[in-house]
Amino acid sequence: ATIPMLTIDGPSGSGKGTISLHVARELGWRLLDSGVLYRAVGWVVNQEGIDPADHAAVTACAQRTRIEFVAADDGSEVRVLVNDEDLGSQLRTEVAGKYASAIAAIPGVREALLQLQLSLRQAPGLVADGRDMGTVVFPDAPFKVFLTASVAERAARRYKQLREKGVEVKLEALQQDLEARDARDTSRAVAPLKPAEGAVVVDTTGLSIDKVVAKVLAVVRG
Ligand code: C5P
Repeated sequence: ATIPMLTIDGPSGSGKGTISLHVARELGWRLLDSGVLYRAVGWVVNQEGIDPADHAAVTACAQRTRIEFVAADDGSEVRVLVNDEDLGSQLRTEVAGKYASAIAAIPGVREALLQLQLSLRQAPGLVADGRDMGTVVFPDAPFKVFLTASVAERAARRYKQLREKGVEVKLEALQQDLEARDARDTSRAVAPLKPAEGAVVVDTTGLSIDKVVAKVLAVVRG
């Protein structure tokens, strides 16, 4: 029997991470934050001084990078080990996101990360968030959501998150970065960001987390 799952795709700052976490907890399902995989490879590429434009070198790097998810006993937090190293919040930085987006356009990188993603579909179910979860990686998922929000709202959310962490950023620069990343993610030849066929589009602009979680849960529970 196929294992039930929900895909949540959408642009940067649409709230995928937060919503996926809440929905997975509510359903008691596992969680795959696929962006972490691209961030991990981007991080290693940067660390090893590999030229992101050298597709063969970046692909080889993706193939040899070991990424492991270690779940806490209560299932609340998942630590990510990259070549046995816990990078903590380093993977969450804007720089890591930029690198991720650059190397994610390379077909060999996406192929190298495919098997790991497929292997995480385990009972009792999986919530997978990213850009191509419903379109490429899990096209047969029974439940699919596409989260969006206005670019102004997405930039404002990121801004708030970063300021709370004590990171100094300019809202305008942040919005420009978001737009550049969206443009790259939407226009790339492989696995471009777009709603999967049959996906329920949820615009989160002006909605509270609780409201969005309820809408997404309704997709699964009917
Ligand atoms: O979602 P997150 O911001 O962590 O993703 C970082 C980058 O990784 C995205 O900008 C995107 O280019 C890439 N990505 C992807 N496919 C996914 C998840 C993330 O290409 N499924």
